[in-house]
Amino acid sequence: MGFPKFSLSSTVLLIMVTGLSLRAESTTYWEDVDVLKELKNGLDPGSVSPGSCVSSWDFTVDPCDSLFSERFTCGFRCDVVVSGTSRVTEISLDQAGYAGSLSSTSWNLPYLETLDLSDNFFSGPIPDSLANLTHLRRLGLSRNSLSGQIPAAIGSLSELEELYLDNNNLQGGIPASMNNLVNLKRLELQSNRLAGEFPELGRSLKNLSFLDVSNNAISGNIPASFPSSLVQISMRNNSLEGTMIHDSFRNMGYLQVLDLSHNRLSGFVPAFLFDGALPSLQQLALSFNRFSSLKFPASLGSQSELIAVDLSNNELRGLLPSFMALMPKLSALSFENNKLTGMVPTMYALKAVVPRPGISPLVRLLLGGNYLFGPIPDSLMGLKPGSVNVRLVDNCFFQCPDIFFFCQGGDQKSLTECKSFAPVIP
Ligand SMILES: *[C@@H]1O[C@H](CO)[C@@H](O)[C@H](O)[C@H]1NC(C)=O
Ligand SMILES: *[C@@H]1O[C@H](CO)[C@@H](O)[C@H](O)[C@H]1NC(C)=O
Ligand SMILES: *[C@@H]1O[C@H](CO)[C@@H](O)[C@H](O)[C@H]1NC(C)=O
Repeated sequence: MGFPKFSLSSTVLLIMVTGLSLRAESTTYWEDVDVLKELKNGLDPGSVSPGSCVSSWDFTVDPCDSLFSERFTCGFRCDVVVSGTSRVTEISLDQAGYAGSLSSTSWNLPYLETLDLSDNFFSGPIPDSLANLTHLRRLGLSRNSLSGQIPAAIGSLSELEELYLDNNNLQGGIPASMNNLVNLKRLELQSNRLAGEFPELGRSLKNLSFLDVSNNAISGNIPASFPSSLVQISMRNNSLEGTMIHDSFRNMGYLQVLDLSHNRLSGFVPAFLFDGALPSLQQLALSFNRFSSLKFPASLGSQSELIAVDLSNNELRGLLPSFMALMPKLSALSFENNKLTGMVPTMYALKAVVPRPGISPLVRLLLGGNYLFGPIPDSLMGLKPGSVNVRLVDNCFFQCPDIFFFCQGGDQKSLTECKSFAPVIP
């Protein structure tokens, strides 16, 4: 920040000490008052309920001077940024039912740091003029009815740390100008209709820790690189395709959550997801894709921090990967609805029932909807319902009686179906 900043309370203190009147000490800059007036006048009158903040805005008094009355401070904040002049530094009118267009306000508030209009009924486009808010650190427009594209001009907000545009009707691409938001820590664009490829942000957004673009129509491959500062990536429910390559996830030492479920990813599930390459990864969600095989890591998962792995609803073939039973923290594993065959590895059953010291037990082991066969592992038979969530339905276990809770809730496949999938199935 290039300007000195004093809080309201220090203004008040100064006034008490010096005995000056508040009005003489601080006057709202006239242009800021004009913007507040525009904002008020631009709202649909029917959406401004009598008890709401905006209805209490009374421009016959100086907004930032009437602080003692608490009449005008509802929904915004002033700070004395230049001696004797108050500037509007925050507008927070979230969850208030306001409707209107953001374009009817000229947004010329050079000292505004926070603009939060989330959970209202604002509609129409995000105007280019928002880019005049060059000191903005937090922009919250979540859960409105905004439409049109994300303006490229948003890249002018170079001090922005948090950007929330989620749950609107925004469409078009994610502008590459987001690369100018070098201080961004949190980017939430989920549940819109954004399309096109996800821009390459890896090199510029060095502080980004949280990225959510789920429930959009992003297409193309996974970006060539992500910011290495990311802790959480959610790109679920888009149209991403191609394979997962290591380069995109290089040096992601902080990544804890990776959710790429409900896309069109294919090829093999790479080994780097299960070894020390992603040393903080705890949750991996790759369900509802088109993966066809899974690679074993050389370390056999012993260095993995993974707690939950969801690979359900893919096209995985081959045997269940026994190395997963060696992953020390793993406690929830789903391979449901794939094309896996072979027997349930004894190690899986043991991890659920009698884990070794220092190894987390499995509390969820979902294997339904495959072509697994053979005897039920002995150790599973003693499990009490409710102790561990195990599912084996819709496989080729011809001896899976309902007395075992993990055989309940569905039938096994027919002998014909099992034989035609794999003649070796007895
Ligand atoms: C604000 O933004 C608009 C549109 O980008 C621009 O035309 C206008 O000159 C800007 N106003 C100020 C005061 O910077
Ligand atoms: C990132 O965050 C650090 C620490 O919070 C800060 O010093 C730095 O200025 C921020 N911005 C960039 C571009 O690294
Ligand atoms: C995917 O996102 C669309 C909106 O983009 C939504 O309607 C749908 O319910 C989502 N599907 C899942 C499985 O989350």
